[in-house]
Amino acid sequence: MTEKITVSLIKADVGSIAGHSRPHPKMMQVAGEHLVKAVLDGLLIDYYVTRCGDDMQLLMTHRNGENHKDVHKVAWNAFMAAAQEAKKMHLYAAGQDLLSDAFSGNVRGMGPGAAEMEFVERPTEPMLVFMADKCGPSAYSLPISRIFMDAFTTTGLVIDPRAHIGYDLEVVDVVDHKSVIMSSPAEMYDILALLGDTTRFAVKRVMHRDIGVAAVVSTEKLNMLAGKYVGKDDPVMLVRCQSGLPAVGEVLQPFAFPALVAGWMRGSHYGAWYPCAVADSDPTYHDGPPRVCSLGIQINNGRIQGAEAPGLKPGEHSPIDYFAGHEWDIVRNRAMEMSMYMRGHGPFMPGIVSPDELEYTTRPEVLKKLEPRMKPLE
Ligand code: 13P
Ligand code: 13P
Ligand code: MG
Ligand code: MG
Repeated sequence: MTEKITVSLIKADVGSIAGHSRPHPKMMQVAGEHLVKAVLDGLLIDYYVTRCGDDMQLLMTHRNGENHKDVHKVAWNAFMAAAQEAKKMHLYAAGQDLLSDAFSGNVRGMGPGAAEMEFVERPTEPMLVFMADKCGPSAYSLPISRIFMDAFTTTGLVIDPRAHIGYDLEVVDVVDHKSVIMSSPAEMYDILALLGDTTRFAVKRVMHRDIGVAAVVSTEKLNMLAGKYVGKDDPVMLVRCQSGLPAVGEVLQPFAFPALVAGWMRGSHYGAWYPCAVADSDPTYHDGPPRVCSLGIQINNGRIQGAEAPGLKPGEHSPIDYFAGHEWDIVRNRAMEMSMYMRGHGPFMPGIVSPDELEYTTRPEVLKKLEPRMKPLE
């Protein structure tokens, strides 16, 4: 088969219950109704609606390529309809990530985040769908570095002849809105020199030189786009796995280290990344800790597995909820311990992010008020 399939994962927070917690099931239902109609209209092949914390995720498959106007429009309309439901129920932050009243061709820049990849389907196409809450896109930089550049994580880089050539990474500068494609392992240390600055750089895409796209991250920087803070990015990532690409287990392994990521509570704190099941992704401690979920799916002629089983309609799937298991309890316990430790700093850095990264601040007013009383140092 040489036909190209596109997987589009588009997400937005359009309202939640009792603070920044979880969308109401009615919101997910109306979003699903828009997507099922798009399947019946022939625009989409298949879809799945899910969530991580207060962020709603629309996973869609189709043959229209990335950034397709009609696919983005259907996602936008699904989010608008869900936001309407949220408004009717007076839910919290209804419509939070929808920065405009009118759709203008592409959701990028309008609030939602999008990770999209187009590829020729392999005979078997395993994929991991990552979703995060209370953090920014650079949260994925450490795991991506481990997955695609670290042989102590991905043994396949050493022993799989197809993976041995390494990968190309597209690194974006989220402040200057530029990007550069760099090759690993040749430029590995240069790549890390950029990615280590998680306030500015993030990975947008990882490519295998023969197989094609391997991973894509949503890197829209909401707070910059809006000119003011309106909600964290809470980014998503798609990763194709196996057969020359990292094995599923190699992709999941780095998440066993609960790295400190920025974006927790008021978008302004560092917390330890807590891997969990979708059903366990409500932010229950200090609006967190920052969550990450991972769903395993198969793409089958553009469908998400399960859709062809008797009695199953499009949108009805049973992905593997990879972080649901008790194996991850030890990581969750560590993440809670680390997050509580970080909270011990209260409003002091590094418990909070740097002044430039703060969602909002009183510092200019405080300094202004104190101006008459500020005395030069002796
Ligand atoms: P692949 O050959 O598909 O990469 O499988 C390897 C594997 O699953 C080892 O765990
Ligand atoms: P969300 O970005 O998930 O909406 O959370 C915002 C926040 O400020 C939580 O404290
Ligand atoms: Mg929210
Ligand atoms: Mg969120």
